[in-house]
Amino acid sequence: MQRIHSVADLHAALAGARSSVLVPTMGNLHEGHLQLVRHAGSLGAPVVASVFVNRLQFGVGEDFDRYPRTLDDDATALAGAGCDILFAPDERELYPHPQQILIQPPPEADQLCGAHRAGHFAGVLTVVNKLFNLVQPAAAVFGEKDFQQLWLIRSMVAQLAMPVRVVGHPTARADDGLALSSRNRYLSAAERTEAPQLYQALCRVRDRACGGHWDPQALAAGAERELEARGWRVDYVALRDAVSLREPDARTRDWVVLAAARLGDTRLIDNLMFRRL
Ligand code: PAJ
Repeated sequence: MQRIHSVADLHAALAGARSSVLVPTMGNLHEGHLQLVRHAGSLGAPVVASVFVNRLQFGVGEDFDRYPRTLDDDATALAGAGCDILFAPDERELYPHPQQILIQPPPEADQLCGAHRAGHFAGVLTVVNKLFNLVQPAAAVFGEKDFQQLWLIRSMVAQLAMPVRVVGHPTARADDGLALSSRNRYLSAAERTEAPQLYQALCRVRDRACGGHWDPQALAAGAERELEARGWRVDYVALRDAVSLREPDARTRDWVVLAAARLGDTRLIDNLMFRRL
């Protein structure tokens, strides 16, 4: 695996190569990221993984400074997962000028996580667009764990006619159901024991919805109350049409229940898709 830090070296490495598959990350890689890399490898083109903690997508008071940076371990893990090129630029390399031109996300970005993280998705879409321009991959793989992010990236690619195939990949979970996340390492031992309750709450919402409970608002409010009673601070639990990301209606077949909630200082997100016929 080549380990590359500059745009010039990236261009040199990609010159003459077949079109690649990109896996963008912020590093501190876990099994969920590595599954994306292995899936990228199965698509039959060289795999480029990027590691870049993108200041643009962090709000004031969020965890940009303490976000775990573990590049040597990440490089070892990526090589083991079959990555061909690790692209790990520093900030001056990716943003040589103050980034004043941003992707303006659609209104769907203002709800759910966007309602609690102002500017977050403009930062995400801007860096993803920039990485697409630098690497020019044929395809890019993203996790369903960040459902709203994946939805917005698909919208950006469609609306701006970007020549990239966006591939979603299922959420990797620990044995107890907790979605793997770089932020799980912030959890104390007691919080780690409690953390799978977020997924459990989503499973209960799904089971009630599939069991004939028809009021999405009431289902979500019930799950919020259950989590808050256990000591969580809930940003939201919400049911959406998984295709439109709008409020579900009578025609909704593919559903998703999404949640973001805090245990202590750690904000966890998760979601669960299901079909209700
Ligand atoms: P990061 O949180 O590092 O995640 C990188 C990719 O890994 C994303 O596509 C995310 O959805 C996926 N991922 C994270 N946890 C996962 C899990 N448990 N199972 C499956 N996939 C998982 O998401 C970002 O970085 C950034 O916003 C980025 C897209 C890189 C732009 O900066």
